[in-house]
Amino acid sequence: MHESFKLHDYPEWYKKFKEQAKGTQRRHVQAKFWQNYHPKGRAERIALGLGWVLIIILRLKPWCSCEICQSFLTSSWSSEYNNLCDWYSHLLRKSPTGTIHVHVLGNVITANPENVEYILKTRFDNYPKGKPFSAILGDLLGKGIFNVDGDLWKFQRKMSCLELGSLSVRSYAFEIVTSEIQSRLIPLLSSFADVNGNRVSQSVDLQDIFRRFSFDSICRFSFGLDPGCLSLSLPVSEFALAFDLASKLSAERAISTSPLVWKIKRFFNLGSEKKLKEAIKSVHELAEGVIRHKRENGVVSSSHEDLLSRFMATINDDVFLRDIVISFLLAGRDTVSSSLTSFFFLLSENARVVRLIREESDRVMGRENEKPVEFSQLREMHYLQAAVHESMRLFPPVQFDSKFCEEDDVLPDGTFVARGTRVTYHPYAMGRMERIWGEDCLEFKPERWLQNGVFKQVNPFKYPVFQAGPRVCLGKEMAVVEMKTVALSLIRRFDIQVSGSGQGPKFAPGLTATVRGGLPVFVRERME
Ligand code: HEM
Repeated sequence: MHESFKLHDYPEWYKKFKEQAKGTQRRHVQAKFWQNYHPKGRAERIALGLGWVLIIILRLKPWCSCEICQSFLTSSWSSEYNNLCDWYSHLLRKSPTGTIHVHVLGNVITANPENVEYILKTRFDNYPKGKPFSAILGDLLGKGIFNVDGDLWKFQRKMSCLELGSLSVRSYAFEIVTSEIQSRLIPLLSSFADVNGNRVSQSVDLQDIFRRFSFDSICRFSFGLDPGCLSLSLPVSEFALAFDLASKLSAERAISTSPLVWKIKRFFNLGSEKKLKEAIKSVHELAEGVIRHKRENGVVSSSHEDLLSRFMATINDDVFLRDIVISFLLAGRDTVSSSLTSFFFLLSENARVVRLIREESDRVMGRENEKPVEFSQLREMHYLQAAVHESMRLFPPVQFDSKFCEEDDVLPDGTFVARGTRVTYHPYAMGRMERIWGEDCLEFKPERWLQNGVFKQVNPFKYPVFQAGPRVCLGKEMAVVEMKTVALSLIRRFDIQVSGSGQGPKFAPGLTATVRGGLPVFVRERME
């Protein structure tokens, strides 16, 4: 049974939530001040603005001359490391506490599992996503689950847990993935594959194919809409283009020197902000169109349907519905394609792991490699499960994730965190810490996840690839099933070899790890 939630109750919740919040003396004084103080004249507003800029400058310490800040400011780290995340991993390994402070960014970064547990669980309320993050994605995601804190988040979390936990939604997701693999992914790769066992000259970008695949799958799952990005002629739908542009330009806001830069551009509707506004408008219009169409055609049922139809049974506000579903698109799209891309990169360098996955699947499914895998068979494949987790240990799709500290605090390792500081936990660096994973931490070794051949989960604060605690990823199980199904179907059917230098991947900046230049591969049909 669904609990009933009423949207018009939000203002009430919000008031209650504010009243209940444990306000300190300082907060009280501040609240009183802001209640009574309204800047009136232009000069007063300018003075107030300058005051804020000064506070921000003082907090960020742009003049800091410590080694880390200097290396960051001059980009001298890039002479030794391919990626910023590799340089951070090096610094975090060197730090006795597993924590560093990049003063010029006002950012404490940690790879210490005790700190991670403290931030994500013990003091969850003191480390929300915060306004700086929600401002970056706010225009695209609105009040969607991915972008809000407090009661608005709690409500969506509860509702989404009810829906995603149901057996019918899981089998609906599995059906979509299986049909997408059988009717599109395999025929597409076959069309690029060499069937004669000869070396082929034509390579294909596997990352691009996985992005198309995961966009089709997540749109069908969340919206009941098929953008058809993965059909043989590889068209790109208007929606996919607009969504791509909107998420890319939103992510670029995060790397601008100061939020003021993109805020001013947005205010005057200039350059990338103008393009972003147009892309978001297209995404919103399309989503609203789908919702309208469903309402008009009465496709609202709470069973065996896409997420949107399920949510429509509870929520009447169409803008809110739009925001919720777009959050799911953003959360479930690039993450899955990123995890599959790195998995195939690692498999291409580890023929032994490919052989062991094939042997396990032959034992469970028989040798006939064209048969689609069944859900129950997937659960029996412990080595595959281990390989997928091991791949995300070394290449987590979300390499780092930040929260903002509400009140002054001290982390378990003794690091002081001032109110307003950005605190980042770093799964990419954590996967490379000897003190967490042992001396062989840089090796791709699925066996570390097995005990007597059975897959064993590790402490989620040691492996926060899906985050952990109350805000752990809602699509975790679904994503792992999707990865295993895709990987298995391709491994059994094709030999896939990455073309190129054998160097580690270089990542493009963004919310999710994306390999710069894609992942070109040669594909060959297996003969046996
Ligand atoms: C390998 C694939 C995936 C990885 C590594 C991953 C990872 C994550 C991470 C790290 C977060 C926390 C982000 C933050 O709070 O800033 C998150 C949240 C979330 N994920 Fe995933 N995710 C994956 C796939 C999916 C899929 C397929 C879905 C959709 C069905 C999904 C839905 C969500 C949602 C809705 C949230 C927000 C949860 C909340 O704020 O309470 N994820 N995910």
